[in-house]
Amino acid sequence: MVSSRLTRLLFLCTHILVLIINVNFTEAQLGTPEFPAAYCFDDKGNYTTGSTYQTNLDSLLSTLFDASNGHGFYNSSLGENKDRVSAIGLCRGDITKEACGSCLSRAANGLTNNCPNQKEAIGWLADCMLRYSNRSIYGIMETNPGFDAFNTKLVSTGLDAFNQAVVILFNGLGAKAARGGHLWKFASGNATIPSANITIYGLAQCTPDLSEQSCIDCLETASGGLGSCCNGSIGVRAVTPSCSLSFWFHFASLSCKEADEILEALQFDLASIRTATNNFSEANKLGRGGFGTVYRGRLLNQEDIAVKRLSRDSAQGDIEFKNEVTLVAKLQHRNLVRLLGFCLEGNERLLIYEFVPNASLDHFIFDPIRRAHLDWDSRYKIILGIGRGLLYLHEDSRLRIIHRDMKASNVLLDAEMQPKIADFGMARLFDLDQTQGDTSRVVGTYGYMAPEYAMRGHFSVKSDVYSFGVLVLEIITGQKNTSFRHGGNVEDLLSYAWKSWNEDTASNLIDPLLKSGSIPEIMRCINLGLLCVQQNIADRPTMAAVILMLTSNSLDLPVPSQPAFFMDGGIESSSDTSLAWDVNSGVTRLDLSKSNSVKYMLHG
Ligand SMILES: *[C@@H]1O[C@H](CO)[C@@H](O)[C@H](O)[C@H]1NC(C)=O
Ligand SMILES: *[C@@H]1O[C@H](CO)[C@@H](O)[C@H](O)[C@H]1NC(C)=O
Ligand SMILES: *[C@@H]1O[C@H](CO)[C@@H](O)[C@H](O)[C@H]1NC(C)=O
Ligand SMILES: *[C@@H]1O[C@H](CO)[C@@H](O)[C@H](O)[C@H]1NC(C)=O
Ligand SMILES: *[C@@H]1O[C@H](CO)[C@@H](O)[C@H](O)[C@H]1NC(C)=O
Ligand SMILES: *[C@@H]1O[C@H](CO)[C@@H](O)[C@H](O)[C@H]1NC(C)=O
Ligand SMILES: *[C@@H]1O[C@H](CO)[C@@H](O)[C@H](O)[C@H]1NC(C)=O
Ligand SMILES: *[C@@H]1O[C@H](CO)[C@@H](O)[C@H](O)[C@H]1NC(C)=O
Ligand SMILES: *[C@@H]1O[C@H](CO)[C@@H](O)[C@H](O)[C@H]1NC(C)=O
Repeated sequence: MVSSRLTRLLFLCTHILVLIINVNFTEAQLGTPEFPAAYCFDDKGNYTTGSTYQTNLDSLLSTLFDASNGHGFYNSSLGENKDRVSAIGLCRGDITKEACGSCLSRAANGLTNNCPNQKEAIGWLADCMLRYSNRSIYGIMETNPGFDAFNTKLVSTGLDAFNQAVVILFNGLGAKAARGGHLWKFASGNATIPSANITIYGLAQCTPDLSEQSCIDCLETASGGLGSCCNGSIGVRAVTPSCSLSFWFHFASLSCKEADEILEALQFDLASIRTATNNFSEANKLGRGGFGTVYRGRLLNQEDIAVKRLSRDSAQGDIEFKNEVTLVAKLQHRNLVRLLGFCLEGNERLLIYEFVPNASLDHFIFDPIRRAHLDWDSRYKIILGIGRGLLYLHEDSRLRIIHRDMKASNVLLDAEMQPKIADFGMARLFDLDQTQGDTSRVVGTYGYMAPEYAMRGHFSVKSDVYSFGVLVLEIITGQKNTSFRHGGNVEDLLSYAWKSWNEDTASNLIDPLLKSGSIPEIMRCINLGLLCVQQNIADRPTMAAVILMLTSNSLDLPVPSQPAFFMDGGIESSSDTSLAWDVNSGVTRLDLSKSNSVKYMLHG
């Protein structure tokens, strides 16, 4: 019976499955690539072109779609005696009526083209089967001809376990399909091999005109050859006129093994985080940041953690979120708070960080008692550390991260009072546009945002440099930018710093609580801070230049000019009421999408 051999590609599953059809048949006129499996019966009689048989066949096929049983099965006959033609169509049980109609019409064209004179023919596409004959074919179980299609990729180990799982899966699916009733005999399902992290998906289907027992018999015959043809193949499809079955393996870690391993290491389960944080108790609350509430926790292994419970307002899907977590977790630097992992369960979206014991910088520099304990050397160390962390984000990490929300409360201090930048990568994790230098959604904190970012949504590494400059001036003065007091006047820090610098009274800027420290060094830092807040983006140094200026005292610093938003005492207000400010516990979000003409406002 063996005379020709067909090797064709057929795509069953867009994921990993490329089925190779491999059949042996007598006198078969086999299909074109568009019609992967067709069989023309040369021994059952030919019709001549223009004959009544052909006319009947053509009109039968063009009206077959009207002969539906409502469940993807089509059965009809046309003509009398020797010119009578019968046809049966069957669609895969889980596709739509539209997909079924389209498949059958492609099958009708393909089959008559492939088998131009044969009275009997049968063909299979991925989603349907079509056959016709001059004899009665309804209600008869037939297993010839049969095709086996299989993926040439074989399972590498554990074949016995796989075969066992496949047999169990098919026994279940076969029985289920057979019991399906006189309209529909179809079943699909899956089995998992947990030890190998593999899911096996399977389908079994019979034409519904078969009895329950005939269906089982047909499926057994169809699967019977698989041991010899496709032992160990990761995807198989076996078809006969009366039934078909297929299975394919899905390897959970086939395409991205490395990422999966990393992800696994980064994944925390919700139960352990609940335990660690005392079920997110009020007592464990450390504070609220821009993207959610932060809780302190202790894992069973005694490791202290900080858990950020994210608000679910991100449009980002779980997979993208996991990808971004994987990337952000790779950012490791001693001046960055380390991301340990995440938890995605139910409605919870959590980020787990290392716990940094000495709270955030704002708790120190804006507190008159604590500030007194922060001498110049500590402050200088903090400035340098923040600079190094930012430099890493901007230039040294594989991802080029713009922080976008640098401020004192996003700098945490470890046991040695070394600074660690928090909340970096949030733009990635929240799917804010990273690639474009423009955004319609400004996320940042008022007082630290560079003007081009606050006003027009343009951001760049230089907007972080601007925020860094504000921070440096805050650390030196011990004053918040927004409520700067000198004498009885409330003035904004940058204007005051610039005025003092310009009038050679910059020493007035130095925090009176600073009892020691090198004045020239402090002056250099004021100079540097003012350079960072220049209106002209090009005049602001890069973080690399900042570090160089901080570490090599012999280097002459450029002379700063008037910083952005120099306010000569006056306070400008905006009458644009469409401006959408959403002040959310310390973080101000300015939604520029709601307003095309944004004026920058001063808060009192
Ligand atoms: C179908 O056609 C073949 C060849 O023409 C003929 O031998 C056979 O008897 C026909 N079958 C029926 C049921 O008419
Ligand atoms: C039918 O036609 C094919 C060629 O199209 C030929 O090979 C075959 O022998 C013919 N069958 C009969 C029964 O005449
Ligand atoms: C299928 O077609 C045959 C032949 O026309 C007919 O005898 C039978 O009743 C049809 N069955 C159904 C369910 O339409
Ligand atoms: C496997 O089948 C079960 C039903 O038997 C279904 O609930 C589950 O979603 C399926 N799993 C996959 C991964 O498709
Ligand atoms: C499949 O291959 C395995 C290992 O080579 C062998 O033990 C098993 O008998 C084969 N199964 C069939 C049905 O041939
Ligand atoms: C299986 O893969 C999933 C995700 O691809 C992973 O989370 C899980 O830990 C893996 N399990 C095993 C046993 O490898
Ligand atoms: C934790 O809190 C949630 C509600 O916030 C509650 O539904 C749940 O039962 C609590 N779990 C435990 C273990 O206390
Ligand atoms: C910082 O934290 C360490 C360890 O918790 C503690 O010993 C130290 O007193 C803290 N320093 C300040 C200035 O609070
Ligand atoms: C400091 O705050 C004032 C408002 O008080 C603001 O106009 C100014 O832009 C802020 N400075 C910086 C550098 O953000």
